[in-house]
Amino acid sequence: MQPRKTFAIISHPDAGKTTLTEKLLLYGGAIRLAGTVKGRKAQKHAVSDWMEIEKQRGISVTSSVLQFDYDGFRINILDTPGHQDFSEDTYRTLMAADSAVMLIDAAKGVEEQTKKLFKVCKQRQIPVFTFVNKLDRYAKNPFELMEEIEQTLGIRTYPMNWPVGTDGAYKGIYIRDKAQIELFEDCAVHGQQKLPSTIGSAKDPMFKEALGEEIYNNLCEDIDLLDVAGEEFSKERVDKGDLSPLFFGSALTNFGVRLFLEEFLRLAPPPAARVSDNGTIDPEDETFSAFVFKIQANMNPAHRDRLAFMRICSGKFTKGMSVYNPQLGKSLKLAQPQQFLAQERAIVEEAYPGDVIGLFDPGVLRIGDTLCEEGKSFRFSDFPVFPPEQFARVQAKDTMKRKQFLKGMNELAQEGAVQIFKQYDDFIESYVVGAVGTLQFEVLEYRLKNEYGVDILMNHLSYTVARWITCEENELKALKNSDSILLIKDHFDRPVVLANNEWQLKWVMERNKEIEFSPVPQNAQAI
Ligand code: G4P
Repeated sequence: MQPRKTFAIISHPDAGKTTLTEKLLLYGGAIRLAGTVKGRKAQKHAVSDWMEIEKQRGISVTSSVLQFDYDGFRINILDTPGHQDFSEDTYRTLMAADSAVMLIDAAKGVEEQTKKLFKVCKQRQIPVFTFVNKLDRYAKNPFELMEEIEQTLGIRTYPMNWPVGTDGAYKGIYIRDKAQIELFEDCAVHGQQKLPSTIGSAKDPMFKEALGEEIYNNLCEDIDLLDVAGEEFSKERVDKGDLSPLFFGSALTNFGVRLFLEEFLRLAPPPAARVSDNGTIDPEDETFSAFVFKIQANMNPAHRDRLAFMRICSGKFTKGMSVYNPQLGKSLKLAQPQQFLAQERAIVEEAYPGDVIGLFDPGVLRIGDTLCEEGKSFRFSDFPVFPPEQFARVQAKDTMKRKQFLKGMNELAQEGAVQIFKQYDDFIESYVVGAVGTLQFEVLEYRLKNEYGVDILMNHLSYTVARWITCEENELKALKNSDSILLIKDHFDRPVVLANNEWQLKWVMERNKEIEFSPVPQNAQAI
């Protein structure tokens, strides 16, 4: 069994996640020519563009899994959608990763979505590797970027390499632990193939000559400064998610990609142990266990299939094996497992801890389900709850379709596509739907129409904060009559308050001091 590296790339849209993924496949030998995974402009859709809606919008809605072998390692890249309107799916995918690569646009620095995703990584204490991308054009000063990462995300960085040259016209990288310089050649292949380069000791006079005295001396000064004033490298701190190894490069031109891949594979952690209600489950444990972190329906419109993605945590998976699902209290057979590379689906014969497989599922599995070997019964800790920030009221356009509408809403909520709520005294059979990104609403609308044959009316609501409340019946009554908030209940009938903003929520809280307000249901862990 090869050692596994299972990770996700987190970034703000347009930072270059698709491009970097593709270049990792190129340098990892999984593809011969870059540009084959994602056709640029003309057919702008990525490998994971399974659903029609993704193709229409040219974006990736749901996470995919790419697997390839390189240098003795089996690499699993969990693709997290990088669209502005990202969803709970993106967060959940991070639950299945052992480390994350944080991609930052060198000109833009740390952006909004990166902050949100980083927060999840920080809470899970997984190692985060930073790749500062787009160094082939104007970039912020590298020291400034380090400062920004520290200030906005609260994590220290350790530069593994350093850009060589003048801002916007970098010529290569300095490899710190080897005191080497790698100079890249101008290349006409537009990053489709590996980039030719010259590597050697930084002391070699050839580099001084090639770079010119000024650039060379500036590099030496920068490196001295890093050595004296920078962080010390500590693998222990990297493992705890306390120090982030920092790389500079350009995914488009392939600048720095090889070094990044090699160093990442050297430093990234192996599959981690997971906490269950029966103690810690080690990847070395011989009995099989896995958890479902994502359900995706209709990946192939011709077959109306539904795939449940699971991460293997211990033991060995073999095709057709029987496992026990403690949540359902039932055994099931894991047939037709799938793994993904580009558009091809391969049938998996066996898989090991760290691997992710997709299984055809007739609708029995749920997000967060544990699967364990027959004869065992334990559950991995619950997934954290991601408090919704966007809300809409939905109802069926045609009241004759009521039954299909209720079925669709409940099934899609169980799948984790959206969170659903009911208003008290609702006479028109509508739902309030909560999401972390507006794209989830579009997916809901599309899927209700295509999978359940129901057209819906959707009104976006102006609320942005939700709080689960604990209170007496009479206090609840008083809140029901309040104009400034909306009182609803979740699908377990727990009361929830929606407010327009934090300020308004505070106002309500101050007037209802005896009521307990919580961003997530009781006993759930929030991000
Ligand atoms: P994403 O998945 O994170 O959203 O980003 P994606 O890889 O699609 O890249 C977004 C844009 O940034 C693309 O340009 C891509 O070519 C460009 N890009 C990625 N890496 C680099 C880099 O290292 N340097 C430079 N200069 N650009 C980079 P686009 O114009 O939106 O698309 P296209 O014309 O390339 O298709």
